[in-house]
Amino acid sequence: MVNDPYISLRKVEVAYNDYVAGLRGVSINIERGEFVFLCGQTGSGKSTIIRVLSSQIKPTKGEAIFDGRPLTLVKPEEIPELRRKIGIVPQDFGLLPNKKVWENVGYAMRAVGRTKSEVREQVPAILERVNILQRADAYPTELSGGEQQRVAIARALINNPPLLLADEPTGNLDAAHSDEIINILLELNAQGTTIVVATHDISQVERAGKRVILMSAGRVEEEIDATGGHHEPLEPRSDENPKETPQPDQEPEPQTETSVSTPQTNDPHENN
Ligand SMILES: Nc1ncnc2c1ncn2[C@@H]1O[C@H](COP(=O)(O)OP(=O)(O)OP(=O)(O)O)[C@@H](O)[C@H]1O
Ligand SMILES: [Mg+2]
Repeated sequence: MVNDPYISLRKVEVAYNDYVAGLRGVSINIERGEFVFLCGQTGSGKSTIIRVLSSQIKPTKGEAIFDGRPLTLVKPEEIPELRRKIGIVPQDFGLLPNKKVWENVGYAMRAVGRTKSEVREQVPAILERVNILQRADAYPTELSGGEQQRVAIARALINNPPLLLADEPTGNLDAAHSDEIINILLELNAQGTTIVVATHDISQVERAGKRVILMSAGRVEEEIDATGGHHEPLEPRSDENPKETPQPDQEPEPQTETSVSTPQTNDPHENN
């Protein structure tokens, strides 16, 4: 067991309600500086892991640790500070349609307290990092899917976060444009950012040659390391409670803290 992983999920279960399990006992460790793909079919739990890591939802059971902090204990008022360490690229880009590219990034910066002059100074460099500076004055509707995705990544970079979570960043792109996005993410990773990418695009994952956590029905099916070696999951299926659905005597804990109770509603970057 690695001593102090940057990210650690231990037997994490997420019950969305009495009948729907998002995660059924997931244990994974991710080290600082890693690039990891969460791969698996639709409904396998990829986005749920992203939501747990970004404190949009809390595990119903188990423990999630990020940078030494148990996410189950994070108070609602601590979430904004935590989020500054985590860039989130949402599955649907989340761009403001009536604002230009640079305004989309500037607006997100203003939302986290940056001054107008900081916006003017820093936005060009952020756009440059994702190779979209030349389209700074375009509106999102004037951009290709790949270009919109780059703006979404730019917005996730405003705090220069050490961790970037990207949910299906190549979901709607052809192979060439997917590679372009993955190359940008690989470049950010080379500069030191830890990156977790949820995707169902196996061929793309194979091209990138990075670690893969293969999800199936809310569990880790298999891990594939960056050299292509296959490994059993940390939490072997045979060790687990064989239940397939949450049992009646194990009701999900009510999520009373309003800021983490509803998936995908607590991220200022996503609220348009
Ligand atoms: N807000 C929600 N309320 C109820 N059930 C949910 C909610 N979000 C996800 N689920 C369920 O949890 C399971 C895991 O969903 P999740 O979104 O994590 O899958 P995914 O691997 O990201 O799928 P996709 O590839 O389609 O994005 C699915 O069965 C899904 O129907
Ligand atoms: Mg998803």
